[in-house]
Amino acid sequence: MTPPSIVILTGAGISAESGLSTFRDPDGLWQRVRIEDVATPEAFARDPAHVHAFYNARRTQLADVQPNAAHLALMRLEREWPGAFLLVTQNVDDLHDRAGSLPLHMHGELRRVRCLACGARHGWAADLSISTPCPSCAVSRLRPDIVWFGEMPMGMDRIEAALDGCGLFLSIGTSGNVYPAAGFVEDAAQAHKVELNLEPSAGSELFDEAHHGPATQVVPAFVDRLLREWA
Ligand code: OAD
Repeated sequence: MTPPSIVILTGAGISAESGLSTFRDPDGLWQRVRIEDVATPEAFARDPAHVHAFYNARRTQLADVQPNAAHLALMRLEREWPGAFLLVTQNVDDLHDRAGSLPLHMHGELRRVRCLACGARHGWAADLSISTPCPSCAVSRLRPDIVWFGEMPMGMDRIEAALDGCGLFLSIGTSGNVYPAAGFVEDAAQAHKVELNLEPSAGSELFDEAHHGPATQVVPAFVDRLLREWA
C-alpha cells in the first residue's frame, strides 16, 4: 500500500514545554499585550518602536529555549516517512528548524527581517530599532518578517496544494482560532484528521481522532505508532 501523504499544522502549544508562552491560554501573550498594539500593520505604522520592542523581547527569548521531544519526534517523522510530507507551522520561533525539520513558516519568523524600502529579507538575531539600516539598501525601514493580522499568510499555494489530496492531517498545539490555519482541517477533506493538543480545540469535532495531553508526550507516542505501522 502507498503511504498516505502527510500535512502537519503546528501552533504555539508545541513550543510551550520549551518555555515559550502560547497566545490564548490563561498566561498567554494576548492576555498581557493587545493584538492591536503590536501585531497589525497599523500598530507598526503608528508606533514602530513599540512593535520592535515587543518582537525584540521575543527574539531574545529564543536564545534561552531548546526544541523539545515533540519537535524532535516531528523531525524524525519528516526524515523517516516514506511518502510526501509537509510541516506547516504558525509559530514564529525557530524550534522546528533547530530540531532539524524544514517547516513552512506561514506566519513568518522572528529571526528574519524584511526591508520596506527594497523588499530584501535577511536572517536576523539582534535587536531591531527604527534606525537600524537595511544591509542591502542602507535605508532604515526594517520590520520583523512576521505576518500580522490583516496580512496574507506565507506559502498558501504550496499549503493548499498539499492539503488537496493529503491522506493524513495532523493538527498539533493550536487552539483553532486563527484563519486560514483553522480551516485546514476542512480543506483536507479526503484525509484522516488527527488532533494532538492539551485540550479539545475550537474545531475539535471536525477531527476523526484526538489525543489530548502535553505535546512532549502525545506527539512522540503518535509518531512512534505511525512509523511502526508503515515500517
Ligand atoms: P494559541 O495560544 O491560540 O493556542 C495554543 C494551543 O496549544 C491551545 O489549544 C492550548 O490548549 C494548547 N497547548 C498549550 N500547552 C500545550 C502543551 N504543552 N502541549 C500541547 N498543547 C498545548 O496558539 P495558536 O493556535 O498557535 O498569530 O495561535 C495561532 C496564531 O494566533 C499564532 O500564530 C499567532 C496568534 O495570534 C499571529 O501572530 C499572526
